[in-house]
Amino acid sequence: MLIAGNWKMYKGPGATREFFRAFDPPDGVESVLCPPFGSLGAAVASGHTIFAQNVHWADEGAFTGEVSTLILLELGVKGAIVGHSERRQYFGETDETVRMRTAHALEAGLRVIACVGELEEERERGETEAVLTRQVSVLRTHESLVVAYEPVWAIGTGRTATPEIAQEAHALIKSLLDVPVLYGGSVKPENAEQLLAQPDVDGALVGGASLDVESFTAVCETAARLSRS
Ligand code: 13P
Repeated sequence: MLIAGNWKMYKGPGATREFFRAFDPPDGVESVLCPPFGSLGAAVASGHTIFAQNVHWADEGAFTGEVSTLILLELGVKGAIVGHSERRQYFGETDETVRMRTAHALEAGLRVIACVGELEEERERGETEAVLTRQVSVLRTHESLVVAYEPVWAIGTGRTATPEIAQEAHALIKSLLDVPVLYGGSVKPENAEQLLAQPDVDGALVGGASLDVESFTAVCETAARLSRS
């Protein structure tokens, strides 16, 4: 199982070093942390597996505010999140840019967590399957690709998808693409077990609860325990 923590725009280098001084993940689960760009160097120095929160499709160029695979690889970063719903909602990310970012990162030797997920109104209109199918259709099966299902209405809201909703979406995604699928959206120590116990849930992408070393470790421990059983 893979448990990834997306720190979003939290934690500078000092807070990053503090987190890793205290972080001792259990055996039997792979843990990855995704700090903001400015804290990547401090995070890599910890020796833990570190992913960025985005990556561009060109090796270099006039792309202000972006970061390349070459820069990430030189820093010792192992992968990147691509297409997070916050990028789609606030920064104009589209299925096409997600396709380009993902394809280039995989080609460059980075691992990718590609995010998909429906908006609340899309779910209410019965469009979940169509939206997920469209978002997944730009991706190709690859050994270094993982998809994260993050229903937008469950992100940062404290409203988690029920295990049944997560399982249904994960099964759909896996019928389209043969890759592991993580669940994301208000995952915390109290609800991790029932979500991770679903047959097609292969791990979690944790936001808020990954900022606290104890709660992130608790989610990792739940995953490790379920992997053993
Ligand atoms: P929360 O766990 O804070 O809801 O965030 C989920 C997320 O967006 C992870 O990428």
